[in-house]
Amino acid sequence: MRAVWSDTDDVIPETRVRAEGIHFQKVDTVPEIWRPFMEALDYPKFHESTLSPEVPDFEARTQKVIREHCHEQPEVRFCLEGEGVFEIRSTDDRFMKCTVEPGDLLIIPARRYHRFYLTERAYIRHLMFSKVRGADGQVVPQYRAPKDPIPPTRYEEYTRYAELLALLPPADERIVPDQLLFFVPHLTTALWLEVLLDDVARAVAAMHGDRLAEAGDRVARAVMVEKLLVAQLELSERITPKDFAVLRQKAYAGNGADSPGFRRLLEVGKSLAPAVERICARRGVDIVTVLREPSAHYDVHVLLRSIFELDGWIRTWRYAHFRLAERQLGPEALSKQGRPVAALLEGAEFRIVPELWSAVTKFTEEMSYGLD
Ligand code: HEM
Repeated sequence: MRAVWSDTDDVIPETRVRAEGIHFQKVDTVPEIWRPFMEALDYPKFHESTLSPEVPDFEARTQKVIREHCHEQPEVRFCLEGEGVFEIRSTDDRFMKCTVEPGDLLIIPARRYHRFYLTERAYIRHLMFSKVRGADGQVVPQYRAPKDPIPPTRYEEYTRYAELLALLPPADERIVPDQLLFFVPHLTTALWLEVLLDDVARAVAAMHGDRLAEAGDRVARAVMVEKLLVAQLELSERITPKDFAVLRQKAYAGNGADSPGFRRLLEVGKSLAPAVERICARRGVDIVTVLREPSAHYDVHVLLRSIFELDGWIRTWRYAHFRLAERQLGPEALSKQGRPVAALLEGAEFRIVPELWSAVTKFTEEMSYGLD
């Protein structure tokens, strides 16, 4: 018998399987051997069962045994031909996947939940034993009641999986089939913006503590998040304008501009700009000096490079979002707030740290002077 954990596929050591109260061993499939063997174990009655797509009640029987259940007495199976899988609950409520093949005797303890299904070979012939003398070998199943649901795994608990999925409109309530392509990017953007804003806040703290390498790294991570957000906008473009019109009329009453995360994102310049100013003051330089002599102020140059990038990628998002809205609604169409879609382009011109950009202009003017 092969035993692995169903959730990880890791092999379960034999000692653990036995510690779970599960008995298994190899016994010869010749009746002259297994018969006296089972009688000695006090399992005198048996019942032969074959399961394969050829048997007439295959579907019904498959559905019955795949439902998690247990019995008042131990379940004793001896595989004669083919193979099958018993998934048995461990004491810590995981599934142990036990695959039996010819010669495998398996005893599942009484009142232990389990379920059964065939492997790809789709065939098993096995014997089902009963300890009680005179019984017909059948064991009555008790199905795991709905009020006793399969407990969530630790992964599901940690990620709050069920709560998360409950946020999505159920398939039969979706206004259009692609509703998730609109809804999920909004949800995930809200979460990723929290990561981005946290990185910026920590970058600002590092800048005040004169830890420039750390600050630069944090801003670079914020840039990575913004790039993710740009990439996922493309998916919403796959909703057809026709479906989007339905979605907009029947389900979407909001305005993305009211997203709290987005509003805070537009404010990050208010903490980044003074932090840059303080660094420059401490070093006795200004931004133009750093642009002019990057190698002399390399740590400041690297940090500013990340802030430039962040500023640029926020605008890239706003431009990509304008393109999305333009594709779905048309540039002159009016938003529910009465503004034309093309007005989103103004936002794509908004710079979070304008001081950086005017310093570049100034630098270029200085450099160009006398070059023309
Ligand atoms: C089918 C896709 C989408 C369409 C047609 C669309 C349309 C629009 C329109 C027309 C506005 C302007 C509202 C106004 O100011 O009156 C807007 C704003 C906004 N939407 Fe969307 N949107 C779409 C998808 C998304 C997605 C996936 C997000 C993800 C977070 C999002 C977030 C925002 C934000 C943050 C704003 C404010 C943008 C800015 O001021 O630059 N939108 N959207």
